[in-house]
Amino acid sequence: MSLLDHARAVRPRAWAPYSGFAVGAAIRTASGQVYTGVNVENAAYPEGTCAEAGAIAAMVAGGDTAIAEVAVIADAPEPVPPCGGCRQKLAEFAGPEVRVTMANLQGVERVMTLAELLPGAFRKSHMG
Ligand code: THU
Repeated sequence: MSLLDHARAVRPRAWAPYSGFAVGAAIRTASGQVYTGVNVENAAYPEGTCAEAGAIAAMVAGGDTAIAEVAVIADAPEPVPPCGGCRQKLAEFAGPEVRVTMANLQGVERVMTLAELLPGAFRKSHMG
């Protein structure tokens, strides 16, 4: 099962009654584990969380902190890119070379590295 298959499989569990836009995300870690997440919206809109954030939380709770690969999928006209906040969240645990596969349900896929998605990411090293 590809990482994108994991993201596709978890997507229907999204809680997205406000946007109607269900997103599935999957992370493979350096240890080979796969963690998944979905967006979880809330009646208090800003409290909603993205699928990537859910997958990151599951990964950290699972004892992993080294992201090797990411996949994100939604029912969208073109492959869905992680939002700006999620790019920063991913950068906490992923190096610039990590590949992020973005996809839609029509089978269109786009692969970009984290460095391409978030050039010049602010990292712990910037704090000295
Ligand atoms: N969303 C994600 O979960 N991940 C993305 O990469 C893009 C956006 C969610 C947030 C919100 O629940 C819905 O999609 C519409 O913005």
